[in-house]
Amino acid sequence: MGAEFLRIQLRRAGGWICESICPGSEFSINHSIQLRAFFMSRKVYVAGNLVPAEQATVSVFDHGLLYGDGIFEGIRVYGGRVFLHREHIDRLYESALAIRLEIPMTHSEMIKAVEDTVKANDIIDGYVRLVVTRGSGSLGLDIRRTSDPQVIIIADTISLYPAELYETGMRLVTAATIRNHPGALSPRVKSLNYLNNIMAKIEGTDAGTVEALMLNHNGEVAECTGDNIFIVKQGVLKTPQPDSGILAGITRNAVMKLAVAAGVTVQECVLTRHDIFTADECFLTGTAAEVIAVISLDGRQIGAGTPGSITKDLLNRFRKLTQT
Ligand SMILES: Cc1ncc(COP(=O)(O)O)c(C=O)c1O
Repeated sequence: MGAEFLRIQLRRAGGWICESICPGSEFSINHSIQLRAFFMSRKVYVAGNLVPAEQATVSVFDHGLLYGDGIFEGIRVYGGRVFLHREHIDRLYESALAIRLEIPMTHSEMIKAVEDTVKANDIIDGYVRLVVTRGSGSLGLDIRRTSDPQVIIIADTISLYPAELYETGMRLVTAATIRNHPGALSPRVKSLNYLNNIMAKIEGTDAGTVEALMLNHNGEVAECTGDNIFIVKQGVLKTPQPDSGILAGITRNAVMKLAVAAGVTVQECVLTRHDIFTADECFLTGTAAEVIAVISLDGRQIGAGTPGSITKDLLNRFRKLTQT
């Protein structure tokens, strides 16, 4: 069975491992061989070249691995087009500036490398993970003793939350783990150090939810582990401001613009859990999540307990935007 044939079948399956590669069909019989072929057919950009995924490696002395010293972006591809590409690349370079990491490529070289990786993997609707590490160094923190920042680009497919949650909305719990204090590590830097979010995600998983709400050091609502949060109250769309300890999400920004264009008033303001409990509607935004309704927080039903009309309208508008 050729790798190309497998690749076509897997693409038809509409998502990779998460879809279990056509369970019940002949394709589930020899899973590990298929996965191996799948990885070999993927091309990953590393050290300036597109190489088979199995050969895409970086040094164990890379500070990205040793210290989580690096940055990343998650970017969607819709209809073969890299969505909000410039915005993601700009944020990547801003993250780099904040941590004093010099990316060894210009903006336009980076844009081309992402597009080349998408094309090389025949991605029509998918997801790009763009990583820049500090590079290899000694077993110490000094960035002056590192060299060769590594640019890694992986293009694949993704399905973050179960499809039915987009119809029903999701439940949330508040994590006890607070979001990083902006004076320690600004959440505006999309750094390779995601332990803060992972700790909160574990709490959500333990509580049986797919996401968890994170508060900031003042006890105010910040964001979720991998998504920004919005509420609707009396027709006004509200979301925490960027300096409240959140990642300034690119989907968040796109949705705020869509809301303004739809005539909805948008406010960036302080929100507390009480505001979420008593909201008419609530939803999350993120590159992977897109727009998804939240129907309860910590056992309190939000609004009617179903996705609200403004949420549904913004989801439709967002879907249209991804197709333009
Ligand atoms: C912590 C966090 N907040 C928010 C978001 C949403 O940001 P964006 O819309 O740019 O994907 C992400 C996405 O990765 C995230 O990790």
